[in-house]
Amino acid sequence: MSLLIKNIGELFDGNKIIKNTCVYIEDGKIKSVGKEVKADEVIDAEKKFVMPGFIDSHTHAIFHGSREFEIEWKVEGVGYKEIAERGGGIYYTVVETRKAGRNELKKETMERVNEMIKHGTTTVEIKSGYGLDKKNEIKLLEVINEVNECSKATVIPTFLAHAIPDEMDADYFVDMVINEIFPEISRKNLAVFCDVFCETGYFDINQSKRILLKGKEYGLLPKIHADEFSCIGCSKLATEIKAVSADHLLMTGEEEMKMLAESKVVATLLPATPFVLNESYPKAREMISNNVEIALATDMNPNCYITNMQFIIQLACYKMKMRVIDALKAVTLNSAKALKMDDKIGSIEEGKNADIIIMDIPSYLFIPYKIGVNHVGTVIKNGEIIYSQE
Ligand code: NIG
Ligand code: FE
Repeated sequence: MSLLIKNIGELFDGNKIIKNTCVYIEDGKIKSVGKEVKADEVIDAEKKFVMPGFIDSHTHAIFHGSREFEIEWKVEGVGYKEIAERGGGIYYTVVETRKAGRNELKKETMERVNEMIKHGTTTVEIKSGYGLDKKNEIKLLEVINEVNECSKATVIPTFLAHAIPDEMDADYFVDMVINEIFPEISRKNLAVFCDVFCETGYFDINQSKRILLKGKEYGLLPKIHADEFSCIGCSKLATEIKAVSADHLLMTGEEEMKMLAESKVVATLLPATPFVLNESYPKAREMISNNVEIALATDMNPNCYITNMQFIIQLACYKMKMRVIDALKAVTLNSAKALKMDDKIGSIEEGKNADIIIMDIPSYLFIPYKIGVNHVGTVIKNGEIIYSQE
């Protein structure tokens, strides 16, 4: 089975822009760029802009219960910590999520992933973390795996040590993760990554290190929620344990940036989170000039309900002063690196999976220029159309 996407006005291939070109696909894989080969099927791109499908490498898209009641507090200027103290935040969602059945969770998560697909996302990572006990964390990971099987997008599961459950002492919970949850995850092959919310009031450096190193022994690749509200040494820890990525990084200083750059840890920035929390944005420009590799993701969660990576590009450009081309790379090739999948996805190059989106715009610059609309017209996954606007 072969497919030719012809008459492309502008192509972003994961690295650079190519004008007036075409992409030839065979058996779901990219075969060539720029050669008009005779194919079984032809899509006329009508001079539009084409790029790799978005890779959303950091989400908490499995949860039950919405948190729209926090909005008015946020409008009044109430901070993340106080929202939690007033009964919102992670613990509210944990209570709701523990109550939810598997079918309900699966249906709700599928709906969120479908919304992501419509907005051009072809691969998404989803973290557990709203269960906070063995039964519920395993339930969440099993449902994430089921969503992967049923969804048209690829879904990558991550175990996240998200918070210390109300009913437990922190070290007791860490022991439970290590002695009970990890063996079960490994036995059932439920996750690819292990992540920790390393933050004052959540897991400290030593607890985070214990979890991530033990996770590694079980084959789980480390990721870290780092420097979100305070800078307690998470970036250093990320480099020490060779984390695949350090994520959030709102408070990261120059010294940490240098460490991240040297160690090749991908810095995953999530600008929708400071947007909803009215916090300051990560210093993307400084990171880039320090040679830090930047990925961008949504952080989709009940505090920050966003399924559209185009809005992330807009925030990255306007609020973090990222060049548009750097933002595009950050949502494709660098996100693939943040998931250790850059051998398969993230760019339009020979041998990679044909995960491609066609947008109703003539140039990549229109993504940040025209705000608040969905530019995605067609979504192709492994060489097949999985969403089309008409
Ligand atoms: O990544 N930082 C920790 N966790 C989420 C938010 C979770 C929540 O508020 O429910 C995040 O932003
Ligand atoms: Fe997060």
